[in-house]
Amino acid sequence: MKLRFGLLCLIAIVGLGCTARSITLPDSESSAAQLYSDKCSACHALPHPKRHSAAEWPPVFKLMERRMRERHVPAFSAEQRSVLLGYLQDNAR
Ligand code: HEC
Repeated sequence: MKLRFGLLCLIAIVGLGCTARSITLPDSESSAAQLYSDKCSACHALPHPKRHSAAEWPPVFKLMERRMRERHVPAFSAEQRSVLLGYLQDNAR
């Protein structure tokens, strides 16, 4: 069982590139999704909005804003923050 999983992952790595380069975002054509994929992939692979519940996203978001300050990444405007957080919560798990 374990071996089979490893084999599958190996095939995935070789075949597709296991780096999660391209997740499929909800409403991927919307400006919110585009802002999201632009801003939230600067430091790590883009997490899917379903990674967290609507209640969990605000504290995670706050932590990310702190990580941005630490790294001198320009802060979000109030509007960007509300678009991004709204997008995450609308599409949360
Ligand atoms: C300035 C760099 C930076 C940016 C920009 C950034 N993150 Fe992060 N993110 C991190 C770091 C560093 C971690 C590792 C955990 C930690 O140190 O807090 C992380 C971890 C995470 C995690 C992992 C926690 C988990 O649930 O597995 C999520 C989710 C996440 N970020 C979401 C986001 C979202 C959403 C955005 C856009 C609003 C974003 N990140 C933008 C630096 C960043």
